[in-house]
Amino acid sequence: MPSDFTIQSTLHAGIIMDGNGRWAVARGRPRTAGHRAGAETVTRVVEAAPDLGIGVLTLFAFSSDNWRRSPEEVGSLMALMAEYMERETARSVENGVRVQAIGRRDRLDPGLREAIARTEAATAGGTRLWLRLAVDYSGRDAILRAARSLLDPSRESVEAALGPPVDLLIRTGGERRLSDFLLWECAYAELVFSRRMWPDFDAADLAGAVREFRGRERRFGAAPPEPVRAVAGWLD
Ligand code: FPP
Repeated sequence: MPSDFTIQSTLHAGIIMDGNGRWAVARGRPRTAGHRAGAETVTRVVEAAPDLGIGVLTLFAFSSDNWRRSPEEVGSLMALMAEYMERETARSVENGVRVQAIGRRDRLDPGLREAIARTEAATAGGTRLWLRLAVDYSGRDAILRAARSLLDPSRESVEAALGPPVDLLIRTGGERRLSDFLLWECAYAELVFSRRMWPDFDAADLAGAVREFRGRERRFGAAPPEPVRAVAGWLD
């Protein structure tokens, strides 16, 4: 967490926003229409997150492996992200949302790079929600970069270079894999998989995932407390 960042809530949720393409194809529309609808879901989810106790939200917008998609699809995703930055900056400032991109920037087109820089600068004072958009992002590469930047890497220094640990990891679209997203940060994340395609995901779904998270017992490798062990021990 940046040293100057005071958040009102501490839950870090990461979301793999999957299912845009299938959502569109099921409606006889091009995959790019699914991404456009998915960008609208981003706006809804960002709006809902703080009231659910989410202080940090990391969204997987474009994986470093997504460059393998058609130039048309890649172009449309890049344009949607630039559009999002332009459209949402004023609202983010108003709502106390600090927007930051994580991932490589050197392969993004200059227009998007500049849009990101403008939004980051304009929203830097936000303390209600820290929104991290993973763009040209690979968890493995992020770990490598962090380790290479440190003389004597330790758990603490790598964590400081990468960002806060994820508490709740949500993946929509019915698949159940991490796809190179926040690999280190998800070491003890609670995983929630939703069958909902991302364009259909809404505030109620997010609230449901947070509810499920709150009902989980997080032990971080420790043994359960005595009374629980006595009752449920034979189940382990
Ligand atoms: C995965 O669905 C989704 C993506 C690769 C892109 C996610 C992008 C957005 C939600 C919109 C742009 C982002 C912002 C921040 C404005 P998929 O296409 O792999 O779906 P499929 O598995 O059904 O094919």
